[in-house]
Amino acid sequence: MEQRQVLEKVEQFVKKYFNQDSSGHDVEHMKRVAVWARNLAIEEGEDPFLCEVAGWLHDIGDRKLFKKPEEAIIVRDDFLRTVGFSEEDVETICNAIGTVSFSKGQNPRSLIGAIVQDADRLDAIGAIGIARAFAYGGSQNQPIYSSGGQSSIGHFHEKLLHLSTLINTESGKKEAEYRHHFMVRFLEEFDREQQLGKEGE
Ligand code: ADP
Ligand code: NI
Repeated sequence: MEQRQVLEKVEQFVKKYFNQDSSGHDVEHMKRVAVWARNLAIEEGEDPFLCEVAGWLHDIGDRKLFKKPEEAIIVRDDFLRTVGFSEEDVETICNAIGTVSFSKGQNPRSLIGAIVQDADRLDAIGAIGIARAFAYGGSQNQPIYSSGGQSSIGHFHEKLLHLSTLINTESGKKEAEYRHHFMVRFLEEFDREQQLGKEGE
């Protein structure tokens, strides 16, 4: 099978899982991560095809999103074999995806893992990252803002404002810094409006 055909099959496979998502883990997220992974791979001298495939598949088996993550991973790896990947490639993709998640706090062991992690992190910051944080917060019935408890605005301070310093690749860093500044501006404005809303308390 040609790479182009494999990528079409991968996209169809991923769509089955994430078509209905409204928590910020939708098909467009998978696509953006795949495209960024391919482009970062070109910059970093890694295999663009393997990185793109790993980007598409990176959220399959995520514990937040799957009731039975282990089963999803078995199905994913079987799928990769049916579209012609060798055992070595399946293992490479599987290992790369295994270290993507920020919450698991793992360091990537391969350049492919580092690239896919960067692509996923880029999609968690900037304008898209802002949109996704509130979508995820809504999906968990979390308030937009709270002066005390957990909130989506709180998530920026706990996690999203740190991500630009945690980017692995040089090519990812430039885009991450740009997105970071946009988020900072957004938060300043949010704070300004929030303060105005407090007047007269
Ligand atoms: P990873 O899968 O890399 O561990 P997460 O699943 O934590 O990353 O994040 C995926 C998306 O969900 C990101 O856009 C992130 O900002 C958002 N998200 C995760 N946790 C929260 C939260 N508590 N509040 C708002 N958004 C969140
Ligand atoms: Ni993701």
